[in-house]
Amino acid sequence: MKDKLKQLKKSALVDLEKAKNIESLQDFEVRYFGRKGIYTLLVKDLPKLSVEDRKEMGRAANEIKTEIQEAIKTRQTELQAERLGNIAKEEWIDKTLPGLCPEVGHLHITSQAIEEIASIFTRLGFVRRKYPEIEWDWYAFESLNMPASHPARDEWETFFIDLPEGKPRQGRGEKGKIVLTPHTSSGQVREMERGKLPIRMMNISKTYRRQSDVSHTPMFHQFEGLFIDEDVSIASLKGVLDYFARSFFGEGRRTRLRPFHFRFTEPSFEIDISCDVCGGTGKLEDGSKCRLCKEGWLELGGAGMIHPNVLKAGGIDPKKYNGFAFGWGVERTFMMKEGMKIDDIRLLYKNDLRFLEQF
Ligand code: DAH
Repeated sequence: MKDKLKQLKKSALVDLEKAKNIESLQDFEVRYFGRKGIYTLLVKDLPKLSVEDRKEMGRAANEIKTEIQEAIKTRQTELQAERLGNIAKEEWIDKTLPGLCPEVGHLHITSQAIEEIASIFTRLGFVRRKYPEIEWDWYAFESLNMPASHPARDEWETFFIDLPEGKPRQGRGEKGKIVLTPHTSSGQVREMERGKLPIRMMNISKTYRRQSDVSHTPMFHQFEGLFIDEDVSIASLKGVLDYFARSFFGEGRRTRLRPFHFRFTEPSFEIDISCDVCGGTGKLEDGSKCRLCKEGWLELGGAGMIHPNVLKAGGIDPKKYNGFAFGWGVERTFMMKEGMKIDDIRLLYKNDLRFLEQF
């Protein structure tokens, strides 16, 4: 027993030196003093000795234990000091390296344009609303004075949804088929149905048509203005359009109303905006024709005084109230901003960051 204790002390002190960090020091403690540790197992044999021997060996074992534990403490202090000394070396940072800059995104150009358009009309008292993109034929066409199979509908290149037709409702036309709304005008009668007058509404939404080329994408956005009150004049419509043109495109721009035909307005107009390249003259300084507009004006969208049949479809008495409406493509309007020079509308939705990051 005596020899074994001596041997233990010797090997323990050697092992202790080998512990190079706090973790291995903890392992060491377990190896010697844990439940099945070398020391623990050794002193388990004490009761087997004679009373005399047991006393002597017991004392010796205790002394050795104290000695080793003292040594552990000393080693622990040493290792801790060493670790503190190393921190500077291990956690060294080169402050002169350039930082890692997190990438910051921004709103898509279409969203930016929508925000800007909405804020301009909000200043004029228009309230923004959102109406369904998946819509009954009734709101998209029928209530807008475009009866079923009217040839005017062809222009809207509509996507139809293969679902049963809606049931007719009392006092209103039939709901008809379900379509992906081809224009924001479908919000007009929905707004009238809210039953609150006067109306100053702005409906901005996704719209869908079966078209894809440099100036069309199957999904695009439109914004629609609806203004209904007593004694509304074309002059008010012109005033609103001019205010928008100046705010969105710049002080120098003018609008022009050109007679046109829409089923849901009477009279109807197409709205043109003066071209910023030639200043609305159609000619460049050297006398040559402007390549962008050819005649001084760019076409923006449609407008007109609401047709009495549309007011009736919305439950409004056309003898008492009248109003105007206008509707445009958001992307198109944005592309006509000064200096944009985007020659293919499809680029907007290709998700190529090299393109999108420019705006
Ligand atoms: N909804 C029409 C289109 O998509 C545009 C339009 C024309 C809207 C005349 C109107 C309007 O509100 O009065 O082509």
